[in-house]
Amino acid sequence: MSTPNITVLATGGTIAGEADSATRHDYRPGQIGIEDFLGRVETLGIDANLSGTQIANIGSEDMSPAIWAQLHKSISAAIEDPVCTGVIVTHGTDTVEETAFLLDLTLPTIKPVVLVGAMRPANAVGYDGLRNFANAIRVAADRQAAGRGVLVVMGDRVFAARDIRKSRTRGTDAFQGFPRGSVGLVTPSALDWFGAPWRVGESARFPFKRDLPDVPILFVHAGMTPDYVDRLVSDNTRGVVVAGVGEGNMPEPVRAALVALAAKGMPVVRASRLDEGLVDREPEDDENRFVAARALNPQKARILLQMLIAAGTLDPTAIQLEYDGR
Ligand code: SIN
Repeated sequence: MSTPNITVLATGGTIAGEADSATRHDYRPGQIGIEDFLGRVETLGIDANLSGTQIANIGSEDMSPAIWAQLHKSISAAIEDPVCTGVIVTHGTDTVEETAFLLDLTLPTIKPVVLVGAMRPANAVGYDGLRNFANAIRVAADRQAAGRGVLVVMGDRVFAARDIRKSRTRGTDAFQGFPRGSVGLVTPSALDWFGAPWRVGESARFPFKRDLPDVPILFVHAGMTPDYVDRLVSDNTRGVVVAGVGEGNMPEPVRAALVALAAKGMPVVRASRLDEGLVDREPEDDENRFVAARALNPQKARILLQMLIAAGTLDPTAIQLEYDGR
């Protein structure tokens, strides 16, 4: 195999973080620049040509549509470049699932695009960033990685963008896939896929748009009253995602307030606040004009709804088909 040419786009996060000592719990994400980081990677002796660009250097809680736009532009240019084998994006772990899903919906599947992060900062004892990055190179250099959509590599496992979710605040085993677990296992020297690529040669499912419609998430809890809906929804709101209890449930008065919005043509999607929350349609959804998020968690259900509304898809039946099929 010839030496792969990997484009590395850095956005910050713990993988580029530093603490005041190797054992302190508190640290600052996004401290190390891409040149410094790639210098450290070089010491691993991996056979790959890496060219790096700093897109941002932030904690991923500050990820924004403006940075997504830059990232999308740079990845699109890289995958159009015949010299480029694949793309790696370094990213904070807190919102990596949202960036991965947004890119998954808006990029073609012709080359591997892999997001990677770390749970421990770069000068911590047991830093996981270099290993995760070495694993990401292995994936980005593999032709079989194309056709699986955007991928995330964490803790020796490969996840599809649609499935991945951060499920723990600490520890290097912080990510889970749902409804599929990981789609592959990876180390710096081995890569095993579980099954064949499922999106071979697909073009982007949605055009990338920087300005997406306002879609808030209503996080449901015991004792919620319908005025929470009034406080959440403004004149700019174009859709609502409900992070419901159990299988997308909510108190009856809250449901009535959302039915009134849906009757006026505002899309309402029922997701679950549970980590592994499959939400199926219930018989009343037809009459209520509600959509069931199926296996998407609220934060991903929100991104898909933003894309659909931006594309002019407002009919609940048409929206439901997208949640069923993606
Ligand atoms: C972040 O998401 O930027 C901080 C947390 C992390 O990267 O693990």
